Amino acid sequence: MPHYLIHPSPRLSGEVEISTSKNAVLPILAASLLTREEVILHRMPQLTDTRHMLEILQVCGAEVQKEGSDVRIRALAIDSPRENPLLRTMRASVLVLGPLAARNGECLLTMPGGCAIGQRPIDLHLKGLQKLGARVELDGGAVSVSGRLKGANIYLDFPSVGATENLVMAAVLAKGVTRIENAAKEPEIADLCCFLTAMGARIAGIGTNNIMIEGVERLHGAEYTPIPDRIEAGTLACACALTDGSVLLSGARSNHMRALLFKLSESGVILQEDAKGLRLRGRARHPMEARTLSYPGFPTDMQAPLMVVATQTHGLSVFLETIFENRFMHVVELSRMGAQIRVEGQLALIQGGKPLNGASVTATDLRAAAALMLAGLIAQGDTRIDDAGGHLMRGYEALEGKLNALGANVQKMGEEAM
Ligand code: UD1
Repeated sequence: MPHYLIHPSPRLSGEVEISTSKNAVLPILAASLLTREEVILHRMPQLTDTRHMLEILQVCGAEVQKEGSDVRIRALAIDSPRENPLLRTMRASVLVLGPLAARNGECLLTMPGGCAIGQRPIDLHLKGLQKLGARVELDGGAVSVSGRLKGANIYLDFPSVGATENLVMAAVLAKGVTRIENAAKEPEIADLCCFLTAMGARIAGIGTNNIMIEGVERLHGAEYTPIPDRIEAGTLACACALTDGSVLLSGARSNHMRALLFKLSESGVILQEDAKGLRLRGRARHPMEARTLSYPGFPTDMQAPLMVVATQTHGLSVFLETIFENRFMHVVELSRMGAQIRVEGQLALIQGGKPLNGASVTATDLRAAAALMLAGLIAQGDTRIDDAGGHLMRGYEALEGKLNALGANVQKMGEEAM
């Protein structure tokens, strides 16, 4: 069983390069199905999710060629992935729905799987596709979408990241103009729109809640480098804040991380942005309040890592999770390590200032796994994280290697380490 052994860490120091964003790469890979021409993507992160998405593209009929960290994709003719078991491994597999519906006028796939952090329905994706003129049928855990798409006005009841991405990808080849109101505006969505624009799509309002897409006949190939991972950068920033470190996160885009950086700075961490990336120095000392919200609000993906930081500040911190209904699973594991956290519904009250103790803990989802690794850095004694689900490898490119490069001592063990 893959597991990690974390020894107490000294102050982290040095420079580490931020990898390409998983959440930007996954929709961009799906979007490469929108053209018959070759797409070349640079700096692909080595993640299980990236590998699975590339396999799904192959199942859809695309040719995939890897050259170092670059990937060439050519989707001459494409077909639905139908009931392929890969679809169940990853929530983001649903992102092939929009491109297939747009290019082929039909798509059939098994409902996606993914991290167990909530119900995660896809009703907003499907309602939007219906607005674009598609017929949508659900049958025994599979969804089928058919019909030629036409531009439409869509209002999302909630600014869902995945639904916005799917609908933008569906609309770029739909006949006429589509307006998506109350769209999500995470940097990864803007990056997808920039990639689609490089393929010849006509999109206005990129990076806003109001996206307008004028459908085109066809898209062409493109060469693109997706953005750096703001969540990986944020996780490493929390590691620095926990260990009173001094690190340079090379390539990190501070403008994508404002909500987190504001919290760290209020708590006492010294931040400096320069051309190379983001420099952080010092320890988080003051308690904090964090309410997860859609971008540019505080990201739900940073809630678990920042909560570990809150356990080490002096006083009571208050965290409110508003995006996912089951995203406090790390709390039980952190409590095993001695953290004083009380959960009431979607609210977590963290009594900071108590040292953590090394323990044997279990990774329940991707960001919970990262949070436990951070906790292990400052715990007294060794911490063992059982990650039978391989969560960390799904979404972080060698987090243990990056922490070790900054002076930590984290060992990856078990079959998956080889
Ligand atoms: C994406 C990110 C994930 C992040 C999340 C919120 C990727 C690959 N994953 O996930 O890391 O935590 O955004 O920032 O980019 N919802 C519905 N109906 C829908 C769609 C969503 O009710 O049709 C709900 C979900 O259950 C959830 C909330 O909306 O409670 C947010 O989901 P969404 O923004 O869609 O997140 P994902 O795209 O799944």
